[in-house]
Amino acid sequence: MTLAHLILLLLYLHLSSSRSTPASGPPQEDLVEQKCLLQKYTHRSCNKVFCQPWQRCIEGTCLCKLPYQCPKAGTPVCATNGRSYPTYCHQKSFECLHPEIKFLNNGTCTTEGKFNVSLIYGNTDTEGIVQVKLVNQDEQMFICKNSWSMTEANVACLDLGFPQGVRDIQGRFNIPLNLRINDTECLHVRCRGVETSLAECTFTRRRTKTPHGLAGVVCYTQHEDFPTSQSFQCVNGKHIPQEKACDGVNDCGDQSDELCCKGCRGTAFLCKSGVCIPNKYKCNGEVDCITGDDESGCEEDRQRKIHKGLARSDQGEETEIETEETEMLTPDMDTERKRIKSLLPKLSCGVKRNTHTRRKRVIGGKPAEVGDYPWQVAIKDGTRINCGGIYIGGCWILTAAHCVRASKYRNYQIWTALLDWLKPNSQLAVQGVSRVIVHENYNGATYQNDIALIEMRKPPGKKECELPHSIPACVPWSPYLFQPNDRCIISGWGREKDNQKVYSLRWGEVNLIGNCSEFYPGRYYEKEMQCAGTSDGSIDACKGDSGGPLVCKDVNNVTYVWGIVSWGENCGQPEFPGVYTRVANYFDWISYHVGRPLVSQHNV
Ligand code: ARG
Repeated sequence: MTLAHLILLLLYLHLSSSRSTPASGPPQEDLVEQKCLLQKYTHRSCNKVFCQPWQRCIEGTCLCKLPYQCPKAGTPVCATNGRSYPTYCHQKSFECLHPEIKFLNNGTCTTEGKFNVSLIYGNTDTEGIVQVKLVNQDEQMFICKNSWSMTEANVACLDLGFPQGVRDIQGRFNIPLNLRINDTECLHVRCRGVETSLAECTFTRRRTKTPHGLAGVVCYTQHEDFPTSQSFQCVNGKHIPQEKACDGVNDCGDQSDELCCKGCRGTAFLCKSGVCIPNKYKCNGEVDCITGDDESGCEEDRQRKIHKGLARSDQGEETEIETEETEMLTPDMDTERKRIKSLLPKLSCGVKRNTHTRRKRVIGGKPAEVGDYPWQVAIKDGTRINCGGIYIGGCWILTAAHCVRASKYRNYQIWTALLDWLKPNSQLAVQGVSRVIVHENYNGATYQNDIALIEMRKPPGKKECELPHSIPACVPWSPYLFQPNDRCIISGWGREKDNQKVYSLRWGEVNLIGNCSEFYPGRYYEKEMQCAGTSDGSIDACKGDSGGPLVCKDVNNVTYVWGIVSWGENCGQPEFPGVYTRVANYFDWISYHVGRPLVSQHNV
């Protein structure tokens, strides 16, 4: 048995023993990632979800934007304080700062406009049948049971002043008999789940022949909470049945039951980032997973659906909808939210211009061609090129702290679009350096925080750096964008296995490796470092590759700088994978120095 085999065996033994440790072992508990729960993620955690268009992501949390940061285009909206706002975004951002001021209606404020939700026929004031009076409608109306889910019920309870949302949508209510006969005229309501008031949801009236039953709700209060060993504790303090975690439904109200999942129950869709979303959000035209996987491969999906649809009508089967007429009673603010989202500024990074897919060393790698790695740069220190770097936009290069010294910035040159430094290509450009920022907690003994920024000198009289043949790699804002076993690419001018010097840029494919402490006990810091390699060690970074990129592509082929070549024991040995600085952990450090707008792809 080789050392590598022994390590793999130990790794296996460790994994299988740690899996059986939790004492209570019903299989459903396996869907929840316990370690992740400690992070207390909610619908406002931008490591796991996108922020609302009226919020921005600061240090992992969605915070309120100021109204003036909203896109200007849109129509006025009236709020419960009787004031009009120029757009829905302006109102929501104002509400984000003053939660008591909620959405009232689309359009300017009128004197009669009133919206009201109340509960009646319940035994306590936390429960009952939901009654609404819409703006511009005179009567109180009920909501049809068949249009009512936890999503709408959470919004209703929130609106009624129960911050933890709904407990249940079943309940024993004292509905008068004459109402039961009359319930063919109830309202249908559809919420997205991000609303704070039912007035933001879309109400329609459908006259039907058959009675529906009316929607009721039991809102959640802490003093009626009876947690058991089988309950899941939400971040907002609410307890829900364990089997409601990771089912795609936001039972907690703060989404905390859907953000730390290894798998999803039923038909819910599992984002690569470990989030369960309702199946109906897959391929609905809006990206819900931060990893983008809910909207990828949708063309095939649609084709398949069309095919099925045709097949059904061939057989003469008809699924007649019982609706006779549908009357829209309120505007669709969800569509308005999406429209605002589409107006937010977008960052251009990580996409190559001409992806010539001409195919087939870094140790064991292959030679690169012009335009293959437009974010790769070489750092020339005096007369030598000892390190690589990554262009991330503006005048900024990311590299390893161990490659540079802040005081020596005058010695450095940034060579961009370089392929072979013995035979320079025409696209090659050389930039001076105006500043070097080394991470303040870089530890040269442990290689912790092995990250630095280089600011290139701007051409005289210019406000921007001009790099026609370079394209920035995107900076990952969440540690959940990529996972162990994802395939990524390393590139550089580092040495070959036989320590032979390399003059041309080489690249190779590696896999992200989890549990790397197994390989480097006591030396691997999971939050700050990322291991990557191949099972046989044939592809690895080596001396001279330091500071260069480990890049990964998301489902939309957008390239992120996931790691910076940092250290490793020897080169190209399977028992000693390459160790990279985990860039996602430094997103805030990077954006602090280069400015948020340069690196923020979403939620600026
Ligand atoms: N520290 C090295 C350098 O200065 C990089 C080592 C990477 N080693 C590895 N086995 N991946 O270039």
